Amino acid sequence: MSIVSLNVVRGDAATGASLEHFEVPYREGMSLLDAIFWIREHKDPSLSVRYSCRSANACKECSAIVGGKAGYLCSIRAVPGSEVTIEPLAALPWIKDLATSLE
Ligand code: FES
Repeated sequence: MSIVSLNVVRGDAATGASLEHFEVPYREGMSLLDAIFWIREHKDPSLSVRYSCRSANACKECSAIVGGKAGYLCSIRAVPGSEVTIEPLAALPWIKDLATSLE
């Protein structure tokens, strides 16, 4: 089985940030948001991420920093065998984990 490795920023302003490593089974066509849903379903339901439309950059709520570049988690495809670091957007107020305030 192919694995996608994710290093995800966890924490909030009170606790500070740390990176947590997850290994997610790859499915064809999987987005990074799908990989985060898998983590929430199978490993840690408390992992926070903002999203609404789940596809095609329609709501733009899933913006994050992926491998050092801003992008939409629902439109970036997971690559089997890869390892990627996902961080919250630095330009917006941080709420928790990958979730930032849109205000
Ligand atoms: S969830 Fe709406 S743009 Fe990604």
